[in-house]
Amino acid sequence: QRFIVRLLSCPGTVAEDLRRDEQPSGSVETGFEDKIPRKRFSEMQNERREQAQRTVLIHCPDKISENKFLKYLSQHGPINNHFFYESFGLYAVVEFCRKESVGSLQNGTQTPNMAMETAIPFRSRFLSLKLKNQTSKQSCIQSSNQLPPSNRKLFELLCYAESVDDQLNTLLKEFQLTEENTKLRYLTCSLIEDIAAAYFPDCVVRPFGSSVNTFGKLGCDLDMFLDLDETRNLSSHKTSGNFLMEFQVKNVPSERIATQKILSVIGECLDHFGPGCVGVQKILNARCPLVRFSHQASGFQCDLTTNNKIALTSSELLYIYGALDSRVRALVFGIRCWARAHSLTSSIPGAWITNFSLTMMVIFFLQRRSPPILPTLDSLKTLADAEDKCIIEGNNCTFVHDLNRIKPSGNTETLELLLKEFFEYFGNFAFNKNSINIRQGREQNKPDSSPLYIQNPFETSLNISKNVSQSQLQKFVDLAQESAWILQQEDTHRPSISSNQPWGLAAVLLPSVPNRASLTKKKRKRSANERVKNLLESLKSNRTANFTETNEK
Ligand code: GTP
Ligand code: MG
Repeated sequence: QRFIVRLLSCPGTVAEDLRRDEQPSGSVETGFEDKIPRKRFSEMQNERREQAQRTVLIHCPDKISENKFLKYLSQHGPINNHFFYESFGLYAVVEFCRKESVGSLQNGTQTPNMAMETAIPFRSRFLSLKLKNQTSKQSCIQSSNQLPPSNRKLFELLCYAESVDDQLNTLLKEFQLTEENTKLRYLTCSLIEDIAAAYFPDCVVRPFGSSVNTFGKLGCDLDMFLDLDETRNLSSHKTSGNFLMEFQVKNVPSERIATQKILSVIGECLDHFGPGCVGVQKILNARCPLVRFSHQASGFQCDLTTNNKIALTSSELLYIYGALDSRVRALVFGIRCWARAHSLTSSIPGAWITNFSLTMMVIFFLQRRSPPILPTLDSLKTLADAEDKCIIEGNNCTFVHDLNRIKPSGNTETLELLLKEFFEYFGNFAFNKNSINIRQGREQNKPDSSPLYIQNPFETSLNISKNVSQSQLQKFVDLAQESAWILQQEDTHRPSISSNQPWGLAAVLLPSVPNRASLTKKKRKRSANERVKNLLESLKSNRTANFTETNEK
């Protein structure tokens, strides 16, 4: 045997960012590109979790022979699926057909013996492959791309597209999570689960947010939560006769304190023993306490929380909305990219609009079309059966889970029209008095004076965009008006593709150059003036015509 597989024990800190070089795109298959997922969310989550448990992550030497590598690993059992990717070195994700193969591989794996440092032994599924001698024939390994396209490439693609609809679909195709990236996200959660299992053997680490709701773009963070329901509930089945047995446990004054204590030890554990987990920060005093860290090998920025059942339910709701109509994801990706390009959103928390809020705004807008493109949350609740009933912390989170029970929309509007109308709609929305509410699909009076009020769909007394300041909202409104104006102008003067001018989506994605907003305002004013002039003229000529008509009679 020419290879030795080594268990990776806590490596030193290396810069966290992935290399942004152009990489050959090895991934052909994408998760959502051609087919709308019709699987239930829970089914999809369970399948992916089970796949991840049969999977290992291997740091490989730069030059290896793929065939020999696979042959070497196959001695532990048949391989179902594998791919390579680059992130400060070459990594392989190898999914075995059977879970036992992972154990067999781990049994043939040793802890490294280091001259200068001491390894903390930890049997994880994150391994390192070493060559015993360097004579291996070099072979070119196709590596799968885990990064979004560069701005330059994106603009080229958009400029050469055939229509705005084509542009939005191209953007979606380029930015959406690939099948490989999705696999890597579930694998990362599964590796973290192994570490957390040191404290809570029955825990489950579940991904939520944009990694699973079908709205994630390559490079987005990985939100995960530690689900301890199994640990809590197992005992409930074990009662018999007149006796009830309970575990002796430590008690703390509140749920929040329990969460903080649990996350605190998990944070320590990731920091001290988690291979590849670097930059661990325990943010325990936040409204929703979390542990933030970088998973170096996958390149993901991870946020780990506990007790986030409602957020998982929100993810499922978005998954359903994303699956109902192919225009939904294309429009959401377009709007999210637009907001990012104009710095309306940021990876740093603050007074800006979040991607989650933007997605709610798009869903609301699509509920308001005539006929509606998306059903309201209340109508999804009406379609629910007894099995769908779900109450979380006293909140009614019931909605239909079977996608096939929801009737498709009869609306046939183009993405081009929807994009323009989205900007028009929110450029003129009465944010000062109305709130956005996807449960009822209609505007309602704002219950408080927050500049932007988007009702939390499940905890209905909360506003998901409470953080947004008046000036950030104004910036959103100004940019929406400007973009609506740009797209309207193009209706009459679309630049020819050969002119190399950004047009359609590319034109509205261009970051505002200084003074462009005021320039646009002037232009808008001029065009408004022109419109008034034209109107007056047409009124005058009508009156003249009427006058002539009357006179002639
Ligand atoms: P990205 O920007 O791509 O990461 O989108 P995201 O949807 O993953 O957003 P984020 O990472 O900020 O949050 C993860 C998930 O937490 C979201 O998908 C929501 O389910 C939930 N979430 C985020 N912000 C809020 C909020 O203000 N209120 C509520 N109720 N849930 C939120
Ligand atoms: Mg996220």
